[in-house]
Amino acid sequence: MALVPDTSALVEAEQLVADLRDNGSAPAQHAKILQRLDKLRSLLHTGLDSLLFHARPFQILPALNVLIEHGVFDAVPVHGDASIDDLASKVKLDAAILTRFLRIVLTQGIFKEKAPGVYEHTPASAIFRTDQGASLYRLCTVQFPQWWRVSEYLQTHSAEEAQDATKVPYSWALGKEGMTYYEALEDDSTVADAWHKGMTMIQATQPISGMFPFHTLKAVVEAEPQRAFVVDVGGGRGNALVAIMQECGGNYGAKMVLQDFEQVLEGTDPVRIPGVENMPNDFFDPQPVKDAHIYYLRNVLHNHYDKRSQVILRQIVDAMSPTSRVLIGEMILPSSTTAGTDPFPFFMDINMFMEGGLERSEQQWAELLGEVGLKIDKIWRLPDNPVQSTIEASLR
Ligand SMILES: C[S@@+](CC[C@H](N)C(=O)[O-])C[C@H]1O[C@@H](n2cnc3c(N)ncnc32)[C@H](O)[C@@H]1O
Repeated sequence: MALVPDTSALVEAEQLVADLRDNGSAPAQHAKILQRLDKLRSLLHTGLDSLLFHARPFQILPALNVLIEHGVFDAVPVHGDASIDDLASKVKLDAAILTRFLRIVLTQGIFKEKAPGVYEHTPASAIFRTDQGASLYRLCTVQFPQWWRVSEYLQTHSAEEAQDATKVPYSWALGKEGMTYYEALEDDSTVADAWHKGMTMIQATQPISGMFPFHTLKAVVEAEPQRAFVVDVGGGRGNALVAIMQECGGNYGAKMVLQDFEQVLEGTDPVRIPGVENMPNDFFDPQPVKDAHIYYLRNVLHNHYDKRSQVILRQIVDAMSPTSRVLIGEMILPSSTTAGTDPFPFFMDINMFMEGGLERSEQQWAELLGEVGLKIDKIWRLPDNPVQSTIEASLR
């Protein structure tokens, strides 16, 4: 490929400048700008620079790991600065060694060296603090060793085995074949804790409001308050119910039910949300709440291939009345990909492969729901990022 940028790269660069001038402060606009930057870079790669770019995580991640595990991000004050000697003594590392691990992350705008040997946070470094996004980073690092072994898994397992919930790559890589992904996860309380906390953060980056308009059910729910308003199936730490109650200004006098494993709801860090009833329930078992207005499943079905997803959905179908709705909050895979397409949905698909599931296209969703007697009434897509969707379905 020529080293001189071709027209498409120039067009992209000009558009990037225009977007930047056009004020990128709204989160969705900001995300678009970063995606454009990514596209521009991929259009500029000539060969070796592509390889080196994609190998860059190997240069940066070990240093980040040292800094996070030694508490360096927490040791630098949010406001103010810290000298290398103070930092080194706080985190119990040799100052010369610590300097070497800091230098490389400085190249990424992570920390700023405001004077020789004096460091302060930037937004790109503060996010790694425990009181900010460290749990999201840890979610990645606890899973990384298993992801790395997937090519070995593919040499020793068939495509059919990959769909067997007790033989998924994650469990296999941990030496826990025979356990499902969630059994393997909950088997180690440290990993489970890192996972659930990180998940709360990652789920928070995926919107709940702004698609299906929950507030439009006000009159219907108030008219029949004996029916639960929302049953959040596999609801984790209850992010969705919190967002829905925020949108609606409460629960319209009806029950909000949070279902998940007992250890998630009532374990070491119990979930307590005012106005929400915790109801431990395995979603493969019969749904105890009948005739709810909404059965909500967010990022649950992507954890399972169709056979298991059908069992989960059938338990809900059996509890539904003709006016109940199922709402499925998930990504819908775009039908095509080119340089610059957001890789996140495809990363999630690989992530789901590790766990024994998949991200689905619109057609795959329609087929799955059709198999259990549901019909799609509407797909509510997030205007700023149409991959993020809420599928509304009811009994056929
Ligand atoms: C990917 S998380 C999604 C959590 C939540 N819906 C959200 O969007 O924030 C999947 C959730 O399903 C729960 N889960 C997995 N297997 C389950 C089962 N058999 N019965 C009930 N909950 C289960 C997990 O504990 C986890 O909280």
